[in-house]
Amino acid sequence: MTSTSSGERYRGELRYEGKAKRVYATADPHEYIVEFKDDATAFNGVKKAQIGGKGQINNAITAHLFPQLEAAGIPTHFIEQLSSTEQRVRAVTIIPVEVIVRNVAAGSFSKRLGIEEGTPLNHPVVEYCYKSDALGDPLINSDTALSLGWATEGQLLRIRELALKVRAFLVPYFEQRGVRLIDFKLEFGTTPDGAVILADEISPDTCRFWDSQTNEKLDKDRFRRDLGGVEDAYAEMLRRVTAPVDG
Ligand SMILES: Nc1ncnc2c1ncn2[C@@H]1O[C@H](COP(=O)(O)OP(=O)(O)OP(=O)(O)O)[C@@H](O)[C@H]1O
Ligand SMILES: [Mg+2]
Repeated sequence: MTSTSSGERYRGELRYEGKAKRVYATADPHEYIVEFKDDATAFNGVKKAQIGGKGQINNAITAHLFPQLEAAGIPTHFIEQLSSTEQRVRAVTIIPVEVIVRNVAAGSFSKRLGIEEGTPLNHPVVEYCYKSDALGDPLINSDTALSLGWATEGQLLRIRELALKVRAFLVPYFEQRGVRLIDFKLEFGTTPDGAVILADEISPDTCRFWDSQTNEKLDKDRFRRDLGGVEDAYAEMLRRVTAPVDG
């Protein structure tokens, strides 16, 4: 398959439309095309808007990071970028468990536990949420996922191992680019041969990024919290992610 400026001609039927992306079938049942949208939602869809350029930026950031994660020993769904808003990926069965890795207290963790945002955590915290829009992605633990058949024990161990490997790659990666990685959310899926691989995206929609010098937020919290400068923050993160660094 040759890359063109658009993946449109490879797109089959729309399989899934989420809040941030569309997933299309392709001629190959083992591959999907993911299209990144400018749509943004927060608070479980209560707040909605467009963030100009977000689809292109999140596509570009994910397409930049996933091959590097792959090279670092983390299997991912990413195959190739097709256009400014589209990428070709391996089709997986998504495990309905969102995996959150936290380095610094923020967001729902701070709220739930009464820990001030910005408090560094002595140990990385891996949290699991049930992927359910109807329930607002509630916090669960690994026993819940196991008992309700969402993942096997082996898959849960693998997910935790891979999530920490992603962290080990990303924390210094962003540090070198003047960004503190506060926390991030991952999704994993299974391939037909039973392997667990990293799917979905890694972007300012799914991570908290704070500027290392000023702690300025460079992620979706600017939208959630009406801080302004949302588009600029996303564009700045794309610049930093793709800029070459010394050493
Ligand atoms: N390689 C893949 N194969 C199959 N599905 C995938 C793959 N990568 C991501 N997905 C799924 O595609 C959808 C992407 O859409 P989007 O991010 O817009 O969803 P969302 O609004 O966050 O809703 P959801 O709660 O379903 O994740 C998600 O359901 C995600 O789990
Ligand atoms: Mg999503």
